[in-house]
Amino acid sequence: MKTRHFLSLFDLTPAELQQILRRANELKILRQRGEYYAPFPGKVLGMIFEKASTRTRVSFEAGIAQLGGSAIFLSPRDTQLGRGEPVEDTARVLSGMVDLMMIRTFAHASIERFAEYSTVPVINGLTDYNHPCQLLADLQTFIEQRGGIQGRTVAWIGDGNNMCNSYLSAACQCDFQLRIAVPPGYEPDAELLQRAAGRVVLLRDPLLAARDADLVTTDVWSSMGKEEQQQRRQRDFSPYQVTAEIMAQAKPDALFLHCLPAHRGEEVSAEVIDGPQSRVWDQAENRLHVQKALMEFLLLGGNTPA
Ligand code: CP
Ligand code: NVA
Repeated sequence: MKTRHFLSLFDLTPAELQQILRRANELKILRQRGEYYAPFPGKVLGMIFEKASTRTRVSFEAGIAQLGGSAIFLSPRDTQLGRGEPVEDTARVLSGMVDLMMIRTFAHASIERFAEYSTVPVINGLTDYNHPCQLLADLQTFIEQRGGIQGRTVAWIGDGNNMCNSYLSAACQCDFQLRIAVPPGYEPDAELLQRAAGRVVLLRDPLLAARDADLVTTDVWSSMGKEEQQQRRQRDFSPYQVTAEIMAQAKPDALFLHCLPAHRGEEVSAEVIDGPQSRVWDQAENRLHVQKALMEFLLLGGNTPA
């Protein structure tokens, strides 16, 4: 049987995606009730982080521990990967020792190469191209707050980055409308834009993008690896801060989400992220629940318990 990986939302069928989102809610309720559910004693998750992380690391490490297993944190600083051992060799070696891998890296091609040589499921914990685990949490959060996302309108405001690309995939897989407002030169991936045709509109005006939206979302102006462009980006993105004025364009019950970490006064005003429409803390917590559902799905060979 072919090993299932989770490198993008397109690695799941829309039905599997919905199953995982439902399962995430069940696992959340179990945990809230204090019920012990640890079906994977002895299972080990290997985690390679080539970039910094708070949420991804803790949610995966806590998640696998709660499921009865354990995690190993690996950074290029203290593995041979950082001294040039090929990704292909690392993938084959680690596959013989752990049951699941999670990788956060720069080039998406690196995780694809790892997955090609891995005999255990590989989970994408963020690349320069996308951040599918974050989208699982965003979808779970919107659905639990508002009952469903199909047919809704989402406004993405800011950089056409890895998160924006993942919203494009989510629009396809969950059938919602996406309005993207980005400055010229910061557009998301052209192929994904093409793939989402009919569900996406690319705009320059953030006020127009937010009009009657059900969800307004954004992300940092300088993603990890782009720090040296900070000054130029501050200038180019300054009209794209999500403010109360932008939120006022959206539906009265619209939500605000942000994958975090956030920079108040840059991509979002403090008033919005700390205001009543923001659900960023639920969104961050849901990383834990939905990734437990994802790990369960992958450890059970691409199945979710009935
Ligand atoms: N949202 C997110 O992935 O956060 P971290 O960078 O802290 O993992
Ligand atoms: N776009 C951001 C997301 C961080 C979770 C980055 O890549 O740094």
